[in-house]
Amino acid sequence: MVLTTKVGLDWDEDADEKQPVRNSSPERIMKEIDDSLRRLQTDYIDIYLVHWPDPLEAFEKTAMSLYRLLEIGKIRSIGVSNYSTDQMEQFRAGGPLHVNEPPFNLFERKIEEDVLPYCKKNEIRTLGYGALCRGLLSGKMSQDREFKGDDLRKYDPKFQGKQFEQYLNAVKKLDTFARKNYGKQVIHLAVRWILDQGISTALWGARRPKQLEAIDQVSGWHIDDDAMQEIDQILKETIKDPVGPEFMGPPSQEDK
Ligand SMILES: NC(=O)c1ccc[n+]([C@@H]2O[C@H](COP(=O)([O-])OP(=O)(O)OC[C@H]3O[C@@H](n4cnc5c(N)ncnc54)[C@H](OP(=O)(O)O)[C@@H]3O)[C@@H](O)[C@H]2O)c1
Repeated sequence: MVLTTKVGLDWDEDADEKQPVRNSSPERIMKEIDDSLRRLQTDYIDIYLVHWPDPLEAFEKTAMSLYRLLEIGKIRSIGVSNYSTDQMEQFRAGGPLHVNEPPFNLFERKIEEDVLPYCKKNEIRTLGYGALCRGLLSGKMSQDREFKGDDLRKYDPKFQGKQFEQYLNAVKKLDTFARKNYGKQVIHLAVRWILDQGISTALWGARRPKQLEAIDQVSGWHIDDDAMQEIDQILKETIKDPVGPEFMGPPSQEDK
């Protein structure tokens, strides 16, 4: 088991709406690690990730805080999430960087341009989050689905109106492709595709154990270059109005 948690968000406990803000100050990091160790009832965290880049703190200084935690044994490896290559470069001036957790799936591919090659070159392991694009790529999503409570998809532009329709149409075509070429379904294709792009781990969010049954169908096969090109073509033909995962980013304290 690899125990992972994140650091670098803060919120006002007394506020009615607990809106998080970015905070990677040394004081916040030192408080959060002790809170996490106490809550998780453990002596150390295997992978400790800075959740979002905080523009109000020098990235090099954030790295120094995490390096200190590594030295005193409270964490076993250092990671960042949602960082650009520039931000990682600055971070690495203050200490080692072992892991990066960027968003990555068939519909959110920005990291292919620079982040993924940078991580490969510098031997930084990659945990791609949103493997199923928040359930879109499960093949079980439909346009009449209602999102309740604090479900992020209430505000996710991909799950609204025409854009939702466009993404569901792409899922249908990808599912047909997976069935015809591999005897698999879109959920298997989506995860296989991420791994075949050379990411270290595909993070798959499951609400119930049953949702993980599809894992068995992800290994033992690969998507070759020709099939990769066909998939790109399907995406090009169906996603005319793409939208990224940026809506997820919490504000910095500056923007509040
Ligand atoms: N670093 C960051 O900023 C960041 C941001 C987001 C997520 N993450 C990480 O990534 C993990 C996964 O995130 P995600 O929620 O975006 O993951 P995801 O894999 O894109 O989507 C997960 C959703 O897909 C649906 N699903 C999963 N398996 C399914 C199945 N077999 N059949 C049908 N539906 C299925 C479930 O939703 P329903 O059943 O409700 O439809 C589930 O909540 C999180 O736990 C978190 O650790 C990190």
